[in-house]
Amino acid sequence: MIKSLTNIIIPKYKLNYNIERDKNIIQASLAKNIKLPFSCRSGVCGTCKAKIIKGKVNLNTKINHVLTESDIENNIILTCQAEAASDLLELEMLSPVANQIIVGKPKELISEILSVKQITQEIKLISISVSKRFAASPNQLSYMEIIIPGMDVSDKYYIFNNYNGDNLLHEGTITLYVKNSKNLITNNYLNKNLLAGEIITIKGPFLENNIPIFMNSPTLFLSKDSHTIKTLNIIRELLLTGFKEPIMIISYFIDIKNIILMEEMHRLQFLYKNFTYKISLLNKASSTSSRFLLGSISKNINKIFPNLSSHYIYINGDDYFIIETKKKIIELNAKDESIYIELNN
Ligand code: FES
Repeated sequence: MIKSLTNIIIPKYKLNYNIERDKNIIQASLAKNIKLPFSCRSGVCGTCKAKIIKGKVNLNTKINHVLTESDIENNIILTCQAEAASDLLELEMLSPVANQIIVGKPKELISEILSVKQITQEIKLISISVSKRFAASPNQLSYMEIIIPGMDVSDKYYIFNNYNGDNLLHEGTITLYVKNSKNLITNNYLNKNLLAGEIITIKGPFLENNIPIFMNSPTLFLSKDSHTIKTLNIIRELLLTGFKEPIMIISYFIDIKNIILMEEMHRLQFLYKNFTYKISLLNKASSTSSRFLLGSISKNINKIFPNLSSHYIYINGDDYFIIETKKKIIELNAKDESIYIELNN
């Protein structure tokens, strides 16, 4: 099916690009590696205000807590709540679009592996050298690919650097969590070549465009095993962009040896008052800490939440995990329209 496009023009910043019609403007622009100004994405802060110079948007049933009647009469919209609805859409952004947040095109880079740390049997944390001029996306959801000779497609490896205020990576390194692949050729290549001192070719940054639009409500993230890498990156992005509602992640691992990212969850909890985490383990934890729950999330969740009707819920995992977990949260009154599912077998 041919998709209809909208040509977005923002003359002041010399931006001229196409997005898919009927898609949220902020999200569809991010998918094109262009970060327009936004913060809450919930129609509350007004950071994403823009004036329509030409063209149409669709605002049906969307939220607005900031626009006055006179704003609306003057064609001012919240781009976080608007979908492009014409062939051409010319906008004037009312907050500045900073130079450094416009991300460059993905590039192929020949880079040296600086260090490799085996995190679990399945997952390595690798650090790769890149030119200091390499500007990765400001968004925590950017990822790199590792070019495998003879393979057309590559797995996604989310960049897990800490950003330093201006959102560019100046350290000259990229940090990636690399999980064993389901593809044998990829796996053989990763096993042989992911060693400190080896040279590999990487490509990126790409920006993940599979991201839910979060509501302005308490948000619960539920994820299993390595899916916690992407889930935690979404949380990092939300926290960095000023999301103020309570956020909790419950991640589910088979065994204490498989736990990943607990240190990062702990760091985020220390930095952000609205963030907390719990870890659910199938095999008994050797600790009595209340941080750990024994058993699956579906077994444990009602010990934390008697009612989930006011929560937005994101679930990332395999099909069994999703079916079990969704069943349980529906029993706890979660609303179907407030559940976002990301299936990754
Ligand atoms: S109102 Fe749109 S980003 Fe806050």
